[in-house]
Amino acid sequence: MTLPEKVGQMMQLDARDDLDDMVLNRHVGSILHTSPERVRRAHQLTATTRLQIPLLVGEDCIHGHSFWEGATIFPTQLGMAASWDARLLERVARITAIEAAATGIHWTFSPVLCITRDLRWGRVNETFGEDPFLIGELASAMVRGYQGDGLQDETAILATAKHFAGYSETQGGRDASEADLSRRKLRSWFLPPFERVAREGCRTFMLGYQTTDGVPITVNDWLLTDVLRGEWGYTGTLITDWDNVGRMVWEQKVQPDIAHAAAAAVKAGNDMVMTTPGFFQGALDAVANGLLVEADLDRAVSRILTVKFELGLFENPRHPDDARIAVEVATAEHEALNLELTRRSIVLLENDGVLPLPADRARRVAVVGPLADDAQTQLGDWAGGSGQAGWLEGQPRDMITTVLDGLRELAPAGWEVTHARGAEILTLTDDPAGRFFPDGQPRPRLVVPAAVNEAQLAEAVAAAEAADYVVAVVGDRIELVGEGRSTATLELIGGQVALLDALAATGKPMIVVLVASKPLVLPESARNAAAVIWAASPGMKGGRAIAEIAYGHTEPSGRLPISFARHVGQQPTYYNQIRGQHGSRYADLTQAPAWPFGHGLSFTTVEYSDLALEADELSSADVIRGSVTLHNTGERPSLETVQIYVSDTVTSASWADQELKGYRQVTVSPGESVEVAFELPVAACMIVNAAGDRVVEPGAFELRVGPSSDWARLLTAPFTVAG
Ligand code: IFM
Repeated sequence: MTLPEKVGQMMQLDARDDLDDMVLNRHVGSILHTSPERVRRAHQLTATTRLQIPLLVGEDCIHGHSFWEGATIFPTQLGMAASWDARLLERVARITAIEAAATGIHWTFSPVLCITRDLRWGRVNETFGEDPFLIGELASAMVRGYQGDGLQDETAILATAKHFAGYSETQGGRDASEADLSRRKLRSWFLPPFERVAREGCRTFMLGYQTTDGVPITVNDWLLTDVLRGEWGYTGTLITDWDNVGRMVWEQKVQPDIAHAAAAAVKAGNDMVMTTPGFFQGALDAVANGLLVEADLDRAVSRILTVKFELGLFENPRHPDDARIAVEVATAEHEALNLELTRRSIVLLENDGVLPLPADRARRVAVVGPLADDAQTQLGDWAGGSGQAGWLEGQPRDMITTVLDGLRELAPAGWEVTHARGAEILTLTDDPAGRFFPDGQPRPRLVVPAAVNEAQLAEAVAAAEAADYVVAVVGDRIELVGEGRSTATLELIGGQVALLDALAATGKPMIVVLVASKPLVLPESARNAAAVIWAASPGMKGGRAIAEIAYGHTEPSGRLPISFARHVGQQPTYYNQIRGQHGSRYADLTQAPAWPFGHGLSFTTVEYSDLALEADELSSADVIRGSVTLHNTGERPSLETVQIYVSDTVTSASWADQELKGYRQVTVSPGESVEVAFELPVAACMIVNAAGDRVVEPGAFELRVGPSSDWARLLTAPFTVAG
């Protein structure tokens, strides 16, 4: 390969730009954000090049094949996480891979392993929530699903562990801010899920955008080389995030020009450079000026070619395949799995007994709220119509069941379902100052919260007064979600709080359905409603699954993978904060969350008792074996998520008071008692000490088992670990 061919191989460019230029002049190795026509065109062009090295086609298929009209769109990753079901997520990833591979995609930029810290961050919806153990379980399952039984299989695609590492430690929730993290904090909580998937064979890693301790992640030798490649033995490909190399010049201002930035990025171990067109000339200049030697590029290029060989692209470049698309995209089987997952993703936060709605006689239900019938918002971002999904205007309306659709379709005979919008959420305006990013791209449009519309409000109140039940569907909209779209507040914006207050004042039983990308702060009127349901961007089947729960066809089983705040000023609210900053009160507000990590109700009550350990004096090589008894005291079954936390009572360095270390999911029938056995290696009780070493410190521990992280609901069994 010539030097320009090697540099080009290291580049991933946006397929919406000039394909002829990128393939013929810059020898591009990979493209992203494709349409079928453009991907075909890019392959045709590649076939005319000297070496005909196949292109690697990447895409953000992060909750389904988001860039394909009519593909299966699942709940967002946070919604998936509420199922706590790794096996189900593996199947979701498998289906996504099958659909994406048929359309010519080789590589998905999923899963996201970032830990949510501040709920104001715009990308909370893309995460699995706030717990490293749960993130590791679910991410590992998705990687298995995408990569299938081996990359040579035509339905397997490359998975990406992103965003490596610490990107989510934002300041004020703002995207891509400096991540103030010590190496010890990284090792303690941010790195373990990444380490797990690296060791399990995830073939690509993507960086975040953050700087840590003054060093942009793009040139963080310690993380990229010492830890990832050295300690973990990672042999896969490392890709930057969007224009990370350019950003070091124009945004972070730590490199004087693109040649220096390119040289630094290559030397730090990056293999592929996403969407920095200037990297081509920059890297050539860097070699000419002696900032790089060709061998630096060879290392990166060989890793890229290796994954292309692993995928078998030299024999079969895997073009979009119309015959497969016809039979493999959006099949009935995929739709059924989507519905299964969506049911599992919905969390019943409160219920005074109003749910399930009784079918004893004909009733009238008023479905009110700006999101009751908003099909595209329900899909979340990275789905058609979101502004983050390339070519699509939106997903086909008839594939999406909104809450209003679902409540109408499943209403018992004789029931009447009425609808009033009640409020608006926001309008969009161009930034009056006309500010632009330094690279000339316009900033996103500004969100202006909508004013209360008295006529709309009165119509909704009248609908509520004429009804037996009110279902109020509120939340956030796509313009408040995603990369570069963090929010300063967590409150419901626009006319939504006034709407909820007015509906509550009617005295009608109100069921609040929060269709929200992330935990939002609910006003008192909603927190005290007869029932509260959270559906985190629940995808195409969202309205159907919510209606099934409301009418009692499905038992609610989702559990929070993330805590809900009472007030934006409580940030952060994650349950596993280190001791000494948690458990205390603000002078004007409790620090307790509105709903804690792990919380979620069923339509029955399950009592936990008789927590017992086989042995309570253990060594660090042992396995903790125990059991707990669950008794269903009600009349409906419950899918319980038995959560197992460990508390190390005294640690040499400050640590979380308790951490999730395992869980079991068990169905308990009405009246049934079930003994649930569990085991856990003592090694899982390790902490990272002040020297940065992972150690199990001898001494006293507590095992805590129950249905949520709320201390009051956990049973406790003490044990000791000998030195
Ligand atoms: O994969 C994404 C990443 O998560 C954020 N920046 C853009 C990438 C490609 O779309």
